[in-house]
Amino acid sequence: MSASIAISAHGLQKKFGAVTAAADIAFDIAHGERVSLIGSNGAGKTTFVNMVTGYIKPDAGDILLDGTSIIRMAPRQIARMGVARSFQIPQLYQSLSVQDNLLAAIAAQQSTLSFWRPARNTDSLASAGEILGRFDLLAHADRLVSELPGGVRKLLDIAMALTRQPMVLLLDEPTSGVSADEKFPMMDTVMRALEGSRTTVLFVEHDMDIVARYSERVIAFYSGRVIADDKPEQALAMPDVKRYVTGEMISVTDHA
Ligand SMILES: Nc1ncnc2c1ncn2[C@@H]1O[C@H](COP(=O)(O)OP(=O)(O)OP(=O)(O)O)[C@@H](O)[C@H]1O
Ligand SMILES: [Mg+2]
Repeated sequence: MSASIAISAHGLQKKFGAVTAAADIAFDIAHGERVSLIGSNGAGKTTFVNMVTGYIKPDAGDILLDGTSIIRMAPRQIARMGVARSFQIPQLYQSLSVQDNLLAAIAAQQSTLSFWRPARNTDSLASAGEILGRFDLLAHADRLVSELPGGVRKLLDIAMALTRQPMVLLLDEPTSGVSADEKFPMMDTVMRALEGSRTTVLFVEHDMDIVARYSERVIAFYSGRVIADDKPEQALAMPDVKRYVTGEMISVTDHA
């Protein structure tokens, strides 16, 4: 196995009752790669993300993270190996400020006891300040999360995932709930914040403009299978991708 591989999936299978969410999924993703996962509703994208984080265990197959099998590990242990994620719906403390959310994320890494009460020591404040700057969030530092526009909330959720300096960052629909005006500036900010890092980024995305612009590789899922794995231009031009993902023909899972 090559030392440059961050995530290696093979033979992954997962069923929920009669629904096949993963059917023999296999691919390698290199350190530093920026990959988008696409597919219609119910295709198995979030299930794959959940298997990488350990929240869902496959029925068969294996996932290696930097060469180590993670499928028997607990989510916490996998997180400690360097896997961080953001959610389809941001998981933030609505009644805390932007800065306090970041401080809580930083404290959560240091101690499980104090994570509900953001620590205000010099180091934590400096780390939070650095991340606020990197994500263009300084002007929002004292605002409550409940008052933020969708794009800023998403940015904060991603910034919180990056406080761990992860090896792998999983973004589940980073631009969903973000207005058309906000989505490109938001993704520009995320990509700028990641510039120069070897963090492998996997993002689940329904917006093909975002896929084409921000990923260097596209993996398309349909009914728990990989139906395309190529550079964006090639993958998005494939007939099966047009048929089952980008919507030239409505797929049955869209009604699931
Ligand atoms: N915990 C679960 N229990 C039962 N069924 C599940 C569970 N998680 C996912 N599924 C089912 O597995 C299939 C794949 O779901 P998944 O959430 O991975 O799709 P997705 O590609 O992320 O879709 P979307 O674009 O709608 O987010 C769906 O049919 C879904 O209903
Ligand atoms: Mg999903």
